Amino acid sequence: MCEKCKGNFYITTPIYYPSAKLHIGHAYCTVATDTMARYKRLQGYNVMFLTGTDEHGQKIEDKAKAAGVTPKQFVDNIVEGPGGVKDLWKLMNISYDRFIRTTDDYHVAAIQKIFKKMYDNGDIYKGVYKGKYCKPCESFWTESQLKDGKCPDCGGEVQDAEEEAYFFRLSKYADRVRDLLENTDFLEPRSRVNEMINNFIKPGLEDLCVSRTSFTWGIPVDFDPGHVVYVWIDALFNYMTALGFENDRYDDLEAFWPADVHFVGKEIVRFHSIIWPAMLMSLNLPLPKKVYGHGWLLLDGGKMSKSKGNVVDPYVLAEHFGVDALRFFLLRTFPFGSDGNFSNEALINTINVDLANDLGNLVSRTVAMAQKYFGERLPAAQTADEEKDAELIAMVSSLRDKYEEQMEKFAFQNALAEVFKVISRANKYIDENAPWVLAKSEESKPRLARVLYNLLETIRVCGGLLTPFMPDTAAEIAKRLGGARMDWDSLTGFGVLPADVATVAGPALFPRIDMDKELAALEELNKPAVPALEIQPYAEEKVDFDTFCKSDLRAVKVKDCQSVKKSEKLLMFTLDDGTGTDRQILSGIAKYYKPEELVGKTLVAITNLPPRKMMGKQSNGMLLSAVHTEKGEEKLNLVILSDDIPAGAKLC
Ligand code: MSP
Repeated sequence: MCEKCKGNFYITTPIYYPSAKLHIGHAYCTVATDTMARYKRLQGYNVMFLTGTDEHGQKIEDKAKAAGVTPKQFVDNIVEGPGGVKDLWKLMNISYDRFIRTTDDYHVAAIQKIFKKMYDNGDIYKGVYKGKYCKPCESFWTESQLKDGKCPDCGGEVQDAEEEAYFFRLSKYADRVRDLLENTDFLEPRSRVNEMINNFIKPGLEDLCVSRTSFTWGIPVDFDPGHVVYVWIDALFNYMTALGFENDRYDDLEAFWPADVHFVGKEIVRFHSIIWPAMLMSLNLPLPKKVYGHGWLLLDGGKMSKSKGNVVDPYVLAEHFGVDALRFFLLRTFPFGSDGNFSNEALINTINVDLANDLGNLVSRTVAMAQKYFGERLPAAQTADEEKDAELIAMVSSLRDKYEEQMEKFAFQNALAEVFKVISRANKYIDENAPWVLAKSEESKPRLARVLYNLLETIRVCGGLLTPFMPDTAAEIAKRLGGARMDWDSLTGFGVLPADVATVAGPALFPRIDMDKELAALEELNKPAVPALEIQPYAEEKVDFDTFCKSDLRAVKVKDCQSVKKSEKLLMFTLDDGTGTDRQILSGIAKYYKPEELVGKTLVAITNLPPRKMMGKQSNGMLLSAVHTEKGEEKLNLVILSDDIPAGAKLC
């Protein structure tokens, strides 16, 4: 630890499944973790912020198979590829210190050692697994845990599963885990404790199946080939292997374990607050200090998924609204511990009210007035007015403590509310002191200078405290205040800026958004994309070879082609089929071809279909064409053969 540091601080996000591109709900937790990490760094802590990807399991194996690539190629693309997990974190300005992939060699080897240790100490044993398995969640359930016979997490179908497997003696740790949950602050918010006790502990903790034999994309149990380690065991230990537990890749365990906090979404609290501490107890390892189970970002009251369209695509949202506005919105609008309904209206509203009106205006007005009345620098000769300044100064001076109190509880929304109370007060202070009136006489100029100085100091302190939420905006604010200090120690009140502070003008930090126009633009984006190219589904039913061979396909030459009166669809062909007698075929392709352009072409006809009458004319067969859909429009191309092929040649 560095000498000046306040201490070490270790914070983690869940490691993400790279089974599909991430949506804004995934970004929620990572933005919150990043904000907390930046806040701790601002306070002077030596921070380790870990994130990563959880890359094993049947779901990934299946998806890779469907995509025709190996599981490793599949995850590599989603993690490292364009628009993938790492790109998204870069876009969202996520300042992680370490990124773990559970396919990293050091992690794989460490998990094998950990599994063996628990086997050797008797907490992992071999048995037969009989139960229910939810494939999308990669979770095993007992009958009693199912909700109406379905997976209690996702509500999906579960399947019977029976196989030889290893088990972890979770039941052995039930009392200790219960005590941890009920009698300490290990799990927060408190409502999550009740969920865990009622849903899992009270019904009784059963031993947990921790290996699988029905698929191979996992970490092999090295002493029993054929078994792979259950993906959650593999995943949870990432928090320690990434520090060097059971491997030589890193050496940070002593500094950073136990973790200060694991931020996790509510549906994975069970794994983090029951299974994870039980396994650590089995290995006599220190437990993390805290698990915080945050709420979900919902869409129209339901679960969010990328299939719901562009409204939840972080790339689209960041492009439209800016990364800082998006980060700010996520933490300003929803209490971290509860669910929140995501909507574009709410997003635009927050940007307009808090960022454009309150913060943006305060900065623009103050800097513009400072420059208009005094040029680049404020004059050092200033007149305070204790009565008029007292409230603003008091609010700014106590702001850091109030903000800190909320941040320590992970109450991001409340911390921001404190900052915005001060921003509103400062806007009111402008109106109360009417700088434009003070500017009218030379006599009141020293007072005017002090009013502007007070405003600049308020902006500095608020900007500093907003740094963890909106790093780029805070840096821009510091620039406008002539490169102002915004370190933690400087955020306790006035008197940090020099009296003759220089200001720098710039464009509006957050231009006001036209709600109707923007919503319409997003609506347009959200229309289901028309697939560029669509081919007809392949037939399921098989045709035996002999049946296929019964179709008599022949090369035919177009001698004449005419439109059919009163029909918009039909063209009538006179064809040379090599027999010496002309063959007449009617085909519904008038939309695609002009009759004259087909004369002389060599086409393919099925010749042994029963004759059919169309618009009073007989058709003796059918012409073959290729059909597909492009941008929603059906396209048709006749199969045209080389002219060298003689009429009557059989296709087989
Ligand atoms: N791989 C596991 C975590 C293993 S940690 C040892 C996993 N991955 S995940 O990609 O499915 O989810 C990662 C995180 O994103 C979870 O905390 C989950 O709760 C969170 N979110 C996914 N959708 C979300 C919302 N709509 N809203 C908020 N968080 C959401 O679970």
